[in-house]
Amino acid sequence: MKYPFYLLLHIHFSIVSNEGAKEELSGVDCLTEERVDKVVKGFLEDVEEDLLEAKAWPVAYSAYVVSKAALNAYTRILAKKLPDFCVNSVGPGFVKTDLTYNNGVYTVQEGAKCPVMLALMPDGGPSGQVAVVTRANRGIGLEISRQFASNGIIVILTCRDEKKGIEAVESLRAFGLSSVFHQLDIAGANSGLLKNILKQTYETAENCVRTNYFGIRQVTEALIPLLQVSNLARIVNVSSSLGQFKLISNEKAKELGDADGLTEEKVDEVVKGFLEDVKEDLVETKGWPINVSAYIVSKAALNAYTRVLAKKYPNFPINAVNPSYVQIELNYNTGVLTVEEGAKGPVMLALMPDGGPPGLFFDRWKYQAFD
Ligand SMILES: NC(=O)c1ccc[n+]([C@@H]2O[C@H](COP(=O)([O-])OP(=O)(O)OC[C@H]3O[C@@H](n4cnc5c(N)ncnc54)[C@H](OP(=O)(O)O)[C@@H]3O)[C@@H](O)[C@H]2O)c1
Repeated sequence: MKYPFYLLLHIHFSIVSNEGAKEELSGVDCLTEERVDKVVKGFLEDVEEDLLEAKAWPVAYSAYVVSKAALNAYTRILAKKLPDFCVNSVGPGFVKTDLTYNNGVYTVQEGAKCPVMLALMPDGGPSGQVAVVTRANRGIGLEISRQFASNGIIVILTCRDEKKGIEAVESLRAFGLSSVFHQLDIAGANSGLLKNILKQTYETAENCVRTNYFGIRQVTEALIPLLQVSNLARIVNVSSSLGQFKLISNEKAKELGDADGLTEEKVDEVVKGFLEDVKEDLVETKGWPINVSAYIVSKAALNAYTRVLAKKYPNFPINAVNPSYVQIELNYNTGVLTVEEGAKGPVMLALMPDGGPPGLFFDRWKYQAFD
């Protein structure tokens, strides 16, 4: 018999309906080891007397569910009792092992990552906060990851190239900082280097808007459901001062500045219209910027999208930030700021307390109008 082990991934007190158990295990303040023992012993007595269903214990895999719920409750007690230690429990995900008849979706290597990361957590952590950083293998993204990890935040470091991502995780580990790598190609398999933005063709323009706008949109849409159930959600889109609307004279693109009537579809239309004009060699005629136009359009679209999102999800701050001109390989390290300085604005916006500003554009940490 194959078991639906997905049931076992999220052992939460709420799936134990037995009244006594629910009350005893979920009351954080009055939880004690003795109370947890009492629940488990009560469960065993009910098994012996065949009262599982009558006493509202889970019918499927009840011993497993109760034992894990008890473990979670005990973890909480320990964490309270030993505040100088990091005591946590973790669901490794649905892992391919004998227990799951190798039906899991994760390999054992992947399943072990979170427990290992929690065990190696630097002092002061975990704060329970998780940050997903895209394009994090180098430059500003890597530094943002480093600053998050230094703040005790669990970092999911993502980038398109697995080897580079693992090297980035290793480079943080050299500073005693933990992060977890997850391969994520926000631009799709054919993306080229952003260096190509300087000598623009249709292909490079398309790559650029895919990386800086459509890719970010896709990742955001995938993560929004998770962010909505978090009580500390934030989105920080790393944009650029080149994304200011005033740099684009194209008539259709004026819609990007219309904060009230803007929608995701309208932003998409502007970007697609731009790509059509690139294809037809109408960039100058149609009032698009002549130099680095794909970069400018992609960042303006990102800024506009940030505003739309912030309006759609008013319960958490969603902002865009220009990290400023930062020393990276792409600009041959000619930037005026180090990556440490450049990462500060995005990190600060991500860590801002509740009630922070929504839907704004920041030049580092200074508010600036989108246009
Ligand atoms: N540096 C500045 O002065 C400056 C100023 C304003 C705004 N920004 C913004 O800051 C963000 C971070 O940029 P950065 O300065 O750290 O350097 P970057 O060269 O823009 O980005 C480095 C990261 O982006 C990935 N990447 C580059 N081109 C890609 C593509 N076509 N498809 C998918 N991934 C791609 C790289 O992956 P690979 O290693 O695999 O190539 C790496 O993970 C960007 O959004 C950039 O526009 C930077």
